[in-house]
Amino acid sequence: LDSPLDRHVALIGFMGAGKSTLGREVAKRLGREFVDLDREIERQSGERVPQLFARGETAFRVLETGAARSALRRTEPTVIALGGGSIEDEATRTRLRERAVTVLLDVDVDEAWRRTRGGDRPLARDEQDFRALYARRDPLYRAAADSTARDADDVVLAAGGVHVRVGALEQLAALVPGEAPVALVADARVAGIHGAEAQLALGGRVASMHELPAGEAAKSPSVCERLWRELRLDRDAALVALGGGSTTDAAGFVAATYLRGVPWVTVPTTLLGQVDAAIGGKTALNLPGGKNLVGAFHWPARTVIDPGLLSTLPARELHAGLAEVVKTGLLAGESLWELPRPEQVRRCAAFKTAVCLQDPYERGPRTALNLGHTFAHALETASDYRVPHGEAVSLGLLAALRLCGLEDDVVQEQLRPKPVRVDRDRAWAALQRDKKRAAGELRLVLLDAPGKPRLDAAVPEDEVRNALDALIAG
Ligand SMILES: NC(=O)c1ccc[n+]([C@@H]2O[C@H](COP(=O)([O-])OP(=O)(O)OC[C@H]3O[C@@H](n4cnc5c(N)ncnc54)[C@H](O)[C@@H]3O)[C@@H](O)[C@H]2O)c1
Repeated sequence: LDSPLDRHVALIGFMGAGKSTLGREVAKRLGREFVDLDREIERQSGERVPQLFARGETAFRVLETGAARSALRRTEPTVIALGGGSIEDEATRTRLRERAVTVLLDVDVDEAWRRTRGGDRPLARDEQDFRALYARRDPLYRAAADSTARDADDVVLAAGGVHVRVGALEQLAALVPGEAPVALVADARVAGIHGAEAQLALGGRVASMHELPAGEAAKSPSVCERLWRELRLDRDAALVALGGGSTTDAAGFVAATYLRGVPWVTVPTTLLGQVDAAIGGKTALNLPGGKNLVGAFHWPARTVIDPGLLSTLPARELHAGLAEVVKTGLLAGESLWELPRPEQVRRCAAFKTAVCLQDPYERGPRTALNLGHTFAHALETASDYRVPHGEAVSLGLLAALRLCGLEDDVVQEQLRPKPVRVDRDRAWAALQRDKKRAAGELRLVLLDAPGKPRLDAAVPEDEVRNALDALIAG
């Protein structure tokens, strides 16, 4: 099983589906190069597609196949828009399977005709022929597609191997790539609620089932050691992690390290996990001196997000997850917290996926996702992890917005954070532990405005300390 990180994103679909427009947008969001094959053929031949086509369709198809082959051979993952007819070539279909995440941009035939008729496309002149061609190609597109998209967010999600759908849990066996056996690793509480359904869905593929302590207690070296000892997996088998961010962080770390790394699939069951923690391959354990001090980057082969699983989540946990929704909305510059739940999950998941695909090892833009988290981690550590992550993030966002001089009304209204009772000096020591410091300043992620993060903003230490103190009660 290879990682989505190594694959191209190939957009397929009929004329008028919007492959060029969406492809350009997706490439920008992923920080990848965009190759529009029709334009590439024109660039190489010095002629426009209608002229080339006028000399015979067969000659044009040869050019098209050649262009698809060179694009799919590139070593850097790229976003590629294939010409509508490429899919009829079997060698291209094989290369797509080997090298790309193939995404079908769905368009119905009436809409496709409306968009293309009267233009200069050679195959969009006669309506009857157009419809016959659509009927012939449609099954080929569907058979070749790894997923279907209606907008750029859907394409981004597919590129990251992220599948968002109410009811997805039932399709788990088909969504866990390959056919090898799996070890199902679940949060103990979640195992009692959704474990049976997950096992049923995986059917004969479940080789073993393992429970981790519910919540944050899973993120400890001793829990991981127990899991390492229990597992009996080959390197082609997969680990499936079912639970909130604590479970996916801990099970993901085990997947990254067991046999020097086995493929894994995340199935987040909390709002926080679905919009954030289960996406992007960052895994972690806590140590007594600090949160997430041990970890690894290990991109999941698939992230299966079923917003239906949130129906059993306690209100407090749902509220905690809203903190990461608000963080995402502030970073995106959009009121994502106002959306209905499944759409909110899809949009937030797509935002996180795009940022992480752009910078999988957190060397640049991905650090923006730590907005408010420096404060949050300090409060969590100082409370011995009794303050839940989401509640700590709510407070952290408040501190970040205050330091930016921005209004904090969204955080106040949506999250209503209350100061927590922790030891001030311990929180301050924890905050300083993992931060770069120079000349009495700390480096934080701040916002110039919603949608405009400022990475590595230098803030005087006493201002940071005051902002932290304001989050602590008593
Ligand atoms: N890796 C990352 O990129 C990343 C990002 C954000 C947060 N995190 C980590 O995520 C952790 C927090 O995760 P979380 O907020 O998802 O909480 P959690 O995993 O600690 O779970 C919280 C509680 O909810 C219960 N629960 C989970 N799903 C349920 C369901 N569907 N129905 C009923 N109960 C359910 C659990 O048993 C637990 O008691 C923190 O440790 C944080 O550091 C990681």
